[in-house]
Amino acid sequence: MGYEEAGCLPVGGLEAWRLLRRGNVQSGERVLINGAGGSIGTFAVQIAKNYGAEVTGVDSAGKLDMLRSIGADKIIDYTREDFTKNGETYDVIFDVIGKSSFSRSVRSLNENGRYLLGNPRLSHMVLGRWVSWRSSKKVIFGATGQTIEDLLSLKELVEAGKIKSVIDRRYPLEQMAEAHQYVDTGDKKGNVVITVET
Ligand SMILES: NC(=O)c1ccc[n+]([C@@H]2O[C@H](COP(=O)([O-])OP(=O)(O)OC[C@H]3O[C@@H](n4cnc5c(N)ncnc54)[C@H](OP(=O)(O)O)[C@@H]3O)[C@@H](O)[C@H]2O)c1
Repeated sequence: MGYEEAGCLPVGGLEAWRLLRRGNVQSGERVLINGAGGSIGTFAVQIAKNYGAEVTGVDSAGKLDMLRSIGADKIIDYTREDFTKNGETYDVIFDVIGKSSFSRSVRSLNENGRYLLGNPRLSHMVLGRWVSWRSSKKVIFGATGQTIEDLLSLKELVEAGKIKSVIDRRYPLEQMAEAHQYVDTGDKKGNVVITVET
């Protein structure tokens, strides 16, 4: 892994790793990643596949082929289908972006299912504690801090060829403004990297 790929890991990679690890994903479980085509999501798809899960990636149409290429078993275009309304259920739902309906997502969980909130609203944190207390389902959120051990675990997955950084575009430091403009289009797949000449 070169510097550009490695540079993506402590950002999206660690965010994906810390929540999926708390979600205790087991082999054969059904995992849905909402917002799968971005920085955190592309790592989350690959990490969940490494746990042996059947992974559904939800994002916009332009990112779905890429999601298949990194291992997603099923894909859903959120602009055409609401995953909380199609009758499917999951053992783990990881909402990377915090845009899925809280109550319908909880209903889309199997018994003992886990709802991972990457970007929780205060109201969802309060409701989440209630759901976790009153049912077999668990709502998991909150930073646990990122440790060197987490990064070393990711490094092992990279070295074993289990995960890679998805890089859409690279920009030199002088074109930082253009890089931001591209990210702002919403078309970015995975990561955009800034390169620094030495
Ligand atoms: N990256 C990090 O290290 C980090 C750390 C802490 C917090 N966060 C926060 O976590 C969130 C995700 O970060 P990220 O870096 O992975 O963002 P990202 O690279 O922008 O990816 C987000 C993905 O979600 C998709 N999306 C937007 N609306 C959606 C919807 N309603 N349903 C399903 N997918 C949807 C976007 O696609 P379209 O644009 O095509 O719709 C995009 O592919 C952000 O809010 C960010 O601020 C990120």
